[in-house]
Amino acid sequence: MRLILLGPPGAGKGTQASILTKHFGMPHVSTGDIFRANIARGTPLGLKAKAILDSGELVPDEITIGIVRDRLAEPDAEPGFLLDGFPRTIPQAEALGRILDDLGRPLDRVLELQVDPEEIVRRLSGRRICRTCGHVWHLEFEPPTVEDVCDRDGGVLYQREDDEPETVRTRLRVYVEQTKPLIGYYADHGLLTTIPAVGSVDDISQRLIETLES
Ligand code: AP5
Ligand code: ZN
Repeated sequence: MRLILLGPPGAGKGTQASILTKHFGMPHVSTGDIFRANIARGTPLGLKAKAILDSGELVPDEITIGIVRDRLAEPDAEPGFLLDGFPRTIPQAEALGRILDDLGRPLDRVLELQVDPEEIVRRLSGRRICRTCGHVWHLEFEPPTVEDVCDRDGGVLYQREDDEPETVRTRLRVYVEQTKPLIGYYADHGLLTTIPAVGSVDDISQRLIETLES
């Protein structure tokens, strides 16, 4: 299956992508994770991307498209993949269409996670991530037993810099202006399925799996 998970910041794309890719055995391609890994390693891409991610704006299309083109050409993505956080602009969606045409592997489905703005703010403000294993916790919805410590490996939990309230406002504006138009774009292509992303993580993953298996 070749899938896109679409939705605003904090909709639960990363959380659901981890579950779906485990369930279906396909690679999870998150452009946000790729940028953050490059920032952590101090690569030239990371040095370029850091200020942009911290501001909540988007990395330029030509950089992001090149990264996805290379990633989708890797052998593990041949049978299928789940894209999380890409495409985020109409030019990215058009470029993805051309990349997949060239590979002769069309997209199967775009799943939109729909969630209210107030819920987004709650989800992002409580998000905490383990420095060791990367597991994503939530102070209210999936709290660790000991504050700021990962239950899985004792790693220290941190907050993403772009989860500061002012940056969250920028990310939401950028989503509305640049990414939301993709909902109409993929509906016009007959690929869109909208899933209410309310309720527990398990309820939502059940909904997604049932949709994909039906
Ligand atoms: P990216 O990393 O893609 O961030 P995002 O889209 O803003 O999404 P998030 O990771 O914040 O949220 P999510 O939907 O994955 O939610 P999560 O599952 O963590 O992008 C970051 C930046 O990179 C961008 O701003 C941009 O600068 C750059 N970038 C990335 N891709 C780009 C592109 N294509 N083009 C240009 N620039 C790009 O869940 C959030 C929290 O809620 C967690 O704590 C979780 O535990 C909790 N939670 C999840 N589900 C539930 C539930 N059902 N109930 C209660 N809590 C829940
Ligand atoms: Zn951990």
